[in-house]
Amino acid sequence: MHLDKKVYNIDTYKDINIKIVQISDIHFSIGYKLKRLHKLFDDIDNIKPDYVCIVGDLIDEYDVVETDYINYFKDWLKLLSYKYKVIISLGNHDFIVKTNGHYVENSNIDWLLKLRSKNLIILDNDVYSENGINFMGYNPDFEYYYTYKEKKFLKCKELSKLINGHTGYNILMVHTPILIEKNYKDIEGFNLIDLVISGHTHGGMIPSYFPGNFGLVSPVNTLFPRGVRGMVRCGKCDIIISSGVVKLSRKSKITVLNDFYGYNINVINIKKV
Ligand SMILES: [Fe+2]
Repeated sequence: MHLDKKVYNIDTYKDINIKIVQISDIHFSIGYKLKRLHKLFDDIDNIKPDYVCIVGDLIDEYDVVETDYINYFKDWLKLLSYKYKVIISLGNHDFIVKTNGHYVENSNIDWLLKLRSKNLIILDNDVYSENGINFMGYNPDFEYYYTYKEKKFLKCKELSKLINGHTGYNILMVHTPILIEKNYKDIEGFNLIDLVISGHTHGGMIPSYFPGNFGLVSPVNTLFPRGVRGMVRCGKCDIIISSGVVKLSRKSKITVLNDFYGYNINVINIKKV
């Protein structure tokens, strides 16, 4: 279990000087290695960021929420928010439960919403503004992920509504980078976004020491996808894609390989030039 830390330095003409820790794809589940959470906490603590942004897939599926095991994860989130401002947007796994062998939609996120505090912000198609920064959390729906398997062309009207009228430094938190890469030219107002941060792709299942943005396999099982890790340019702004805290979720049944891959933390320094 080793740390895969990447540092990104972003210049802006806007009046910003912040350090963000970006993580994603924790995939907390029954029997999850608590040691991984403890190490993650210590590594974040060593970086001392201004904000911790978690871009979705906090849990693997809803079944864990119905057990006491979820309390370990809730306590971890609370503890993190006692020391740092934590901002969360949601991923496809935060809205699913397995029924008769298939994933079905479960829109109950009350377990998470109950943790809300002034230091623990949950963005469910929502904007949080502070110190001239707008954190916009956009969560595509179940159909986009599971019915259309990310192939549907989207104009993302809901996203345009979120963006509309926000001045300042605009950070879009969206779990899937694929949606933005495919559709950004047609999203009204996208030119107002300064930075996109995502997860979802689990690094394309490639060990972190390989250069480039390609992967072995995408979340929708296409082989050798492009634009699934690192930094990808979309118009005038970049998407920074987290490779995830885990690469393999429980359904793979080989989660032991997560220790081989390591867990990713991105440190994003945004500075006025
Ligand atoms: Fe994931």
